[in-house]
Amino acid sequence: MKIDSLDLGHKLLVAPMADVSDAPFRKISKKHGAGLTFTQMVSADGVVNNNFDTLRLYSFGRDEKPIGVQLLGRDPAIIGEAVSELSKVKPDLIDLNCGCPMEKVTSKGMGASLSDDPQLLARIVKSMVSAAEGIPVSVKLRLGKDHSNINITDSIKVVEDNGASLVIVHARTSSDSYQTDSNWDWLKKVKENVSIPLVGNGSCFFPQDAKDLMDTTSCDSVMIARGALGNPFYFSRFNSLMETGLDPGEPDIEEVVKVTIEHINLLVQEFGEINAFERAKKQTVWYLKNYPGISSLLDNIFKSKSMSELEELILTHEKSIKSGKLEQENIFEINTRFKNKVLFWLSE
Ligand SMILES: Cc1cc2nc3c(=O)[nH]c(=O)nc-3n(C[C@H](O)[C@H](O)[C@H](O)COP(=O)(O)O)c2cc1C
Repeated sequence: MKIDSLDLGHKLLVAPMADVSDAPFRKISKKHGAGLTFTQMVSADGVVNNNFDTLRLYSFGRDEKPIGVQLLGRDPAIIGEAVSELSKVKPDLIDLNCGCPMEKVTSKGMGASLSDDPQLLARIVKSMVSAAEGIPVSVKLRLGKDHSNINITDSIKVVEDNGASLVIVHARTSSDSYQTDSNWDWLKKVKENVSIPLVGNGSCFFPQDAKDLMDTTSCDSVMIARGALGNPFYFSRFNSLMETGLDPGEPDIEEVVKVTIEHINLLVQEFGEINAFERAKKQTVWYLKNYPGISSLLDNIFKSKSMSELEELILTHEKSIKSGKLEQENIFEINTRFKNKVLFWLSE
């Protein structure tokens, strides 16, 4: 897929994810073959006001390119100003979040609620494109507010007519929870009505799912979110599938543990040991959730008190997995819980 002059070939996009899409996650995803990574959503107000936390969220290294920055906002002038500021750090794409359904976002008229107001959406996209200094602009949308108000084809026309270079569609409505299946049929309908590249998103957990999505909908590419958590191998497997027709399958446990530790080390480099610790525990659970003994790992991991204790625990756990003594748990149940809530070990 080409986004203006940026050619991603057949490579996939890894989604913007709040509290996940930090530099270590992006670097690991890229290293394993993701074509384009994103920052998590950043507030346009925060960018304009030079808010330190916002700056931290959208800063990236040159070695991370190509990268997209996702903006959250509502006021076309402020979003335009934020785009102008962002264009100085030269991301490869600037995306508008038009899909976040969280009450704290939609109650301020941002995220998914923007697609209820086509005129405002038009003004925002126009303002972004004119401030972007030639950097391509994309919009990430859901199908509509709910199943009685699916307006994706109208929204896409607005986005396209106002100069966006790419559109990303998460094939759910704002009122759908993760329990509802993504509706890829809509992606097919959308593709028939759009001439800029279309990226489909939703419920691709295996490399073959992404290929199926493209084959059945004619989408130009696919964005992966939950399927990439603890699983950067998704991207290399997909690339092999496209290049050779064969998915090499899950890597062995040595490789998974090696990449888990590499990911943890990147987190420490990025955030320092103390601030990296919670992220490291979360990532470790995702990497190891499909292996035997995940319940005992969960029991122990949140009791660990330091990064060295965590690494020790991971290596001991690897040995126990290899010894074949750990109980294989109900993966289907764990993955159902994970799909509904990525922090599946929390009761709330
Ligand atoms: C933990 C988490 C954080 C997310 N944060 C964002 C975000 O910052 N911006 C955004 O557009 N979508 C966000 N999403 C939605 C994903 O980008 C994606 O659209 C959605 O999860 C569907 O894709 P999937 O079925 O591959 O998970 C988030 C999803 C998850 C699971």
